[in-house]
Amino acid sequence: DSAKLTLDPAFEVGPVGKRLFGSFVEHMGRCVYTGVFEPGHPRAGEDGLRRDVIELTREMGVTAVRYPGGNFVSNYEWEDGVGPASERPTRLDLAWRQIETNAFGLDEFMTWLREVDAEPVMAVNLGTRGVKEARDLVEYANFPGGTRWSDLRIKHGVPEPYGIRVWCLGNEMDGPWQIGGKTADEYGRLAYEAAKAMRRVDPGLELVACGSSNMRIPTFGSWEATVLEHCYDQVDYISAHSYYDPVGGGRADFLASAVEMEQQIEGVIATADHVAAKLGSRKRLKVSFDEWNVWSQSLFGGEGSLDWEHAPRIIEEEYDVAGAAVVGSLLITLLNHADRVGIACQAQLANVIAPIRTEPGGPAWRQTIFHPFALTAAHARGRILRVQATAPAMPTERYGEVPVLATAATLDEDRLAVFAVNRGDRPLPVEIDLRGLPRATDLSHVTVADDDTGARNTEREPRRVEPRAAGGAKIDGDRLTAVLPPVSFNLLRAR
Ligand code: AHR
Repeated sequence: DSAKLTLDPAFEVGPVGKRLFGSFVEHMGRCVYTGVFEPGHPRAGEDGLRRDVIELTREMGVTAVRYPGGNFVSNYEWEDGVGPASERPTRLDLAWRQIETNAFGLDEFMTWLREVDAEPVMAVNLGTRGVKEARDLVEYANFPGGTRWSDLRIKHGVPEPYGIRVWCLGNEMDGPWQIGGKTADEYGRLAYEAAKAMRRVDPGLELVACGSSNMRIPTFGSWEATVLEHCYDQVDYISAHSYYDPVGGGRADFLASAVEMEQQIEGVIATADHVAAKLGSRKRLKVSFDEWNVWSQSLFGGEGSLDWEHAPRIIEEEYDVAGAAVVGSLLITLLNHADRVGIACQAQLANVIAPIRTEPGGPAWRQTIFHPFALTAAHARGRILRVQATAPAMPTERYGEVPVLATAATLDEDRLAVFAVNRGDRPLPVEIDLRGLPRATDLSHVTVADDDTGARNTEREPRRVEPRAAGGAKIDGDRLTAVLPPVSFNLLRAR
């Protein structure tokens, strides 16, 4: 039982987009406070930014970061987070029932982002606020000077505009949990008007309308259709969010989570294209998959279980090898749909369902899911090839028979990278037909795997799970062969 792949440079999905390896920093739990920002930490600079977390974020290859929420943004007043720290108000964050000190805000985020060398994906509050506050924020961030909000930015020590291009028009506005949630008609109108005003301030913006907050919400599809009928002409992206639960269903279903991501992407694109057809528009939207990850969401007690703490330990998921394989397969799915997925952000970056864990005053370490992300971000370069693959199938309850192999490939001049996940519990031999590709000799195979698929990285044992060289891969003429360990993420590189 082996898998067979054919790669041909004539068949491609498109280029590897620069925003596919995004992440997400929300004012939630310990993502900001004691995550990226911890004044007084031995590795923090004068600005309070943890250098250890900056180094790990760079190592991960994060290209874009969404900020400041998430549900948090729907009750957030961005003005609270700028200006002299001593004058910033402490507020109640209703999303996560937290105490928000506002010690970290837009200007700190942008300083951090420069260090990380990534692009901002900024969200505006369309829950408790509206058109005015959104256009004011664009003026603060992007207008050169000589006006109320741009001069305030200059007064705060930032003479040059930030030039933030990508903006999310709210967050999960369909969710009953969202503060200031809306019906599709209400939100669609508001998104249209906010977008119009924001674009008047800066015509160069790229705008993301909120799609459904997950695929299982009953309004999935109809929400997107109604919203886009209002604001299609004003936006460039429609968002998708999804979390895949390792404990809420069967193990095979969890390992096959990427099937659901694929269905969701295809459903959102079909709906957006349907609206384009109705409106007679030739413009095509892209998907911004700006929240995705593995999360044991069925174990989360909900907002009601939280009790007005500052930087509480909320959903600090510990990931295992199976979680890393699923994250790898989700990245593979995003690559294979990069012709229509323009932005993707793993949620979140530090501590909260995150690849990077930290302890207050203590170390930072890489969770298992850090590795497939870092390997893919580093080696998915050039063009994404359309892989023709056959593989043995495995039964799942939710998705029926699913191939045990998930795979994507990229070609950058003579550098070939094949990303492959074996979802099955047995080693999987793969045979790759390289016809039409430059003759390759130099071959490497690294894998994220373990005899114990429940193995994790912890503060005491932070390097238990790491990418390791796998033996046995060979190239013979046009034929590459390798064996993928059970439940593993793999990177094969040839040139
Ligand atoms: O990432 C955690 C939360 O999940 C976000 O705040 C929200 O947008 C989603 O429901």
